Amino acid sequence: MDVLIVGSGGREYSIGYALKHDENVNKIYFAPGNGATDELGENINIKDFNELARFAKEKNIDLTVVGPEDPLVNGIVDVFKEHGLTIFGPSKAAAQLEGSKVFMKNCLQKYGIPTAKYIETDNLEEATNFINQMSEPIVVKADGLCAGKGVIIAKTKQEAIDAAKGMLSGESFGEAGKKIIIEEFLDGYELSVFAVCDGKDYVVLPAAQDHKRLLDNDEGPNTGGMGAYAPTPLINDELYKKIEEKIIKPTLNGLKEDGTPFSGVLFIGLMIVNNEPYVLEYNVRFGDPECEELMVLFDSPVSDMLFKAATGNLKDADVKFKENTYAVGVVLASKNYPYSSSEPAEIIVDEIVHEDLKNNSYIAYAGVSRDEDGKLLATGGRVLVCVGLGNSIKEARDRAYMLVGQVHFAGKKCRTDIAYQALSE
Ligand code: AMP
Ligand code: GLY
Repeated sequence: MDVLIVGSGGREYSIGYALKHDENVNKIYFAPGNGATDELGENINIKDFNELARFAKEKNIDLTVVGPEDPLVNGIVDVFKEHGLTIFGPSKAAAQLEGSKVFMKNCLQKYGIPTAKYIETDNLEEATNFINQMSEPIVVKADGLCAGKGVIIAKTKQEAIDAAKGMLSGESFGEAGKKIIIEEFLDGYELSVFAVCDGKDYVVLPAAQDHKRLLDNDEGPNTGGMGAYAPTPLINDELYKKIEEKIIKPTLNGLKEDGTPFSGVLFIGLMIVNNEPYVLEYNVRFGDPECEELMVLFDSPVSDMLFKAATGNLKDADVKFKENTYAVGVVLASKNYPYSSSEPAEIIVDEIVHEDLKNNSYIAYAGVSRDEDGKLLATGGRVLVCVGLGNSIKEARDRAYMLVGQVHFAGKKCRTDIAYQALSE
């Protein structure tokens, strides 16, 4: 089949990388892709959804896969379906699970799914009263999409009130902060669980752990994610079962009954407190950088799973994962990430002569572009992800860091402790 991948990051590169090695896939297009995706397929510069759908029809594209949340929340799936095309991702209505934290929290409450206690409000007085009754720390969240920056963990009541004021006035996040969620702080450890869904059935992927803070030991500011690994030993069969029974099934049933069935990837951001899972948030797409690791753990064609999910036939899919295999991904970011952009810098990758490393690692390119001479430049915040595979997390981690040592660009920086929680067990 021919596939169109929408997006331009490391996540989309990794989906393309998996499909490139998939016997069912012929041609891959990226809209818009990045400076390295043209090694896997053809980059297309079309932004308008209707125009892109016409392109997909003209080229007889069999499946479109949407990477990021923005086009999903803005309704790309509905437009493609109107054109009679097959597309993997949720409808605009179901994508509200990520597009609006108020919608998400209200769904969780309605379907009886464990989550932090909260109120939603658009009124500062109400917010202040609620905050004054809470114990510290206090979590304040903007309703809409804020590129991962809309969550404030306030250490004091005053800090929480100031955060609420900044959001409600529109100063902090514009329209996205005009409604807010104030919720209790949950103290536990975080996990990312992904369920590929077709509206009724689902397949749970190996649980992953992301590292959101910029610096080692989970210090420094929050980022889009500095590295991840999967599967994580921080989950066991009992916890998987609780996540399915208490979270995934009631969510999919509730959404179906409400007339907004969910198909695509349900990304469940969990906090595990005393061995009980609580939903922190839903996203409606693969995590980045979690996707970069998950894509190399499949032992069955990814195209088959995505196509069957997109066409409501997931129960017929035979999804398999490589046994006894782990993947660790280390993000290489540019000098000023996440504060500001950095000068473009040429990326040099040493020739990898070590067979073991060559066969058990890959680079997922993200914030890169190509100059007129064909040189690859680091131009984005998160530049690329070095992914290592192995029969243990340690082996995968060591290979990922060996690969990190082979990649050079001015200002390159990364965390040195990805997967530390799993390795200190
Ligand atoms: P979110 O975008 O809602 O996942 O929030 C971003 C990050 O803030 C999460 O990954 C957590 O680290 C943290 N966070 C969000 N909500 C809570 C909460 N209720 N308790 C503790 N930490 C939270
Ligand atoms: N890795 C976190 C995210 O994609 O939102």
